[in-house]
Amino acid sequence: MAGQFPSGFIWGTATAAHQVEGGNVGCDFWPLEMADNSIFAEPSGDACDHYHLYERDIALLKQLGFGAYRFSIEWARIQPEEKFFSQGALDHYRRVLGSCLEHGIVPIVTFHHFTSPLWFTRDGGWAEASSVDRFARYCERSARALGDLIAYICTINEANLPMMITRYSELARGKPFAMSRRVGEVAKSLGADPARFAPFLFSDANKTSPNFIAAHRKAVDAIKGTGAKAPVGITLATQDLHAESGGEALTAKLDRDINGQFLEAMRGDDFVGVQTYSRTRIGAHGPLPVPPDAEVTQMGYEFYPEGLEATIRNAAKVSGCPIIVTENGIGTEDDTRRIAYTERALQGVLRCLADGIDVRGYIHWSMLDNYEWTQGYRPKFGLIAVDRATQTRTPKPSAHWLGTVAKRNALTAGA
Ligand code: GCO
Repeated sequence: MAGQFPSGFIWGTATAAHQVEGGNVGCDFWPLEMADNSIFAEPSGDACDHYHLYERDIALLKQLGFGAYRFSIEWARIQPEEKFFSQGALDHYRRVLGSCLEHGIVPIVTFHHFTSPLWFTRDGGWAEASSVDRFARYCERSARALGDLIAYICTINEANLPMMITRYSELARGKPFAMSRRVGEVAKSLGADPARFAPFLFSDANKTSPNFIAAHRKAVDAIKGTGAKAPVGITLATQDLHAESGGEALTAKLDRDINGQFLEAMRGDDFVGVQTYSRTRIGAHGPLPVPPDAEVTQMGYEFYPEGLEATIRNAAKVSGCPIIVTENGIGTEDDTRRIAYTERALQGVLRCLADGIDVRGYIHWSMLDNYEWTQGYRPKFGLIAVDRATQTRTPKPSAHWLGTVAKRNALTAGA
């Protein structure tokens, strides 16, 4: 299906600070990555050195034809101690934003993308009610310093992901969620109380989810209170759940816990960011393995680009908000599959638009091959390859393909 996108449709690529910047030593994931017997396959280290090479990367995006760049600012750099906000770090991000604007790239900024300052997590992090005020304070300071240059603000990335992880782990264990033992050991080695050490991705979402939602709500008010003009929203790991026979009741419950309660809490927001990679089939007792005949991505997900269309429809219906696809992509070494995946996902976006759903943009994950969290550097999500020994960037055919779609603002048959 070929088709034209509405004028002003946003075409971009995304990254997150910790996955590309390098040297994020003040955040809570750093000691988890460096620990012996780490749950991370390898440490993030210097990553793609995007902290220093941002200018080059932004220029390349422009050259390829993209109009927007979604990236995150790092709380651990901006507020490395509870009592200290770093003007140097804020100035750095002003330079990054300035570089976007100079190159005609619309900056979309995420304020929290998984990592938090170590001081925050050590002191109970997201499991404590104090996280709400702490996060709002950081957002307020950042919006005051940077807000005049930002086009769109995402408060918390995938605020519902810990809930998905928690629910799936409860189903697999058949008992209540327990924090990873290896994370607890790192907490102890840092002199923290393992029972009060709650990094975003590893936390018990029964405790942390209400704080994520409250922190988002308070952050929206704090950011708007600075006079920042940017639309503000959250991004969600929107899950396309398919009930298999016998799994209908469990699917409905998981959909409510993982998708519904978050989407409902966002009603009235300027937009919701939809982030979808695949689908999950649910049986009577939990998620089912990928069907044996299905194509599987490097993440072990089913190759299922149609998940995006389903989650856009659901997010628009339940939240009532305009939608921006803030992430969609595939981990693969075969770039032809990235193009095939993205083309089919975009056809789904066109069907949503044809049905009158207010979809404002499509941001591909990711600009660069980067640090895929516990999986390290093995999964390749980038439109642009990175040789980390030399920090050389090499756009893949998919980067040229999607950049051309962006420039034409259209999917053309056979292109
Ligand atoms: C996410 C993440 C990214 C991941 C991507 C691929 O928001 O889940 O934003 O950090 O790298 O989803 O798994």
